[in-house]
Amino acid sequence: MISVRDLTVNYETPGETITVLDGLNLEIADGQAIAVVGPSGSGKTTLLNVLGAMLPATSGEVIIGGKDIACLKEKEAARFRNQELGFIFQQHHLLPQLTVLENVLVPRLAGGWKEEEKITRERAKELLERVGLGHRLTHLPSALSGGEKQRVAVARALINEPILILADEPTGALDGETGTKVADLLLEVQQEKGVTLMVVTHDLDLAARVSGEGDMIRLT
Ligand SMILES: Nc1ncnc2c1ncn2[C@@H]1O[C@H](COP(=O)(O)OP(=O)(O)O)[C@@H](O)[C@H]1O
Ligand SMILES: [Mg+2]
Repeated sequence: MISVRDLTVNYETPGETITVLDGLNLEIADGQAIAVVGPSGSGKTTLLNVLGAMLPATSGEVIIGGKDIACLKEKEAARFRNQELGFIFQQHHLLPQLTVLENVLVPRLAGGWKEEEKITRERAKELLERVGLGHRLTHLPSALSGGEKQRVAVARALINEPILILADEPTGALDGETGTKVADLLLEVQQEKGVTLMVVTHDLDLAARVSGEGDMIRLT
């Protein structure tokens, strides 16, 4: 269960305090997929950054995996990000000099993965097979299409067996058909792994598919 209580986020700018989230409350069940919608500037990315322990809250609580991550110290925040989270961004953020397989392994580098290196590589290969890229392991990102890069990003988000995947406009840089396929894949693996998924999008079709019968998070 993810539980957000009275979450407020202010940005301090010279001469002005901007309140972006103002007393937000949310409850998200484990294994649920939920869309976050709202106009540009409404705080969608800000919310994801707080849930991902990349931005401290100004006030309020964010309980994930039984722990309040609203205001962690940097070291604990880094540990939380490395062990509990998967991220997918609008731009794939693959490292251009690393192969597809190495890119999927990047989140493991921080975790001291030496002893289990072989198991981890096998797992990365399985994930890449799962997203339909088992035949592209040694290729560089530059050799892939946009949709394929985003499928690598899906595999990378799963390598640490996260409890939560945060996706910020994951299909925003893809054409409609490719975006639909990537979104379907993301939802399939989310169901298979039973992981909680939060997807920011302003594509209302995608938002409806992500949230299914459930609610969306609507920011204003
Ligand atoms: N680091 C920052 N400093 C000041 N204002 C910011 C900062 N980051 C975002 N904002 C402002 O906060 C608001 C919400 O931004 P954001 O969360 O990126 O919205 P969204 O993702 O919904 O478009 C915007 O008005 C934006 O300009
Ligand atoms: Mg945004």
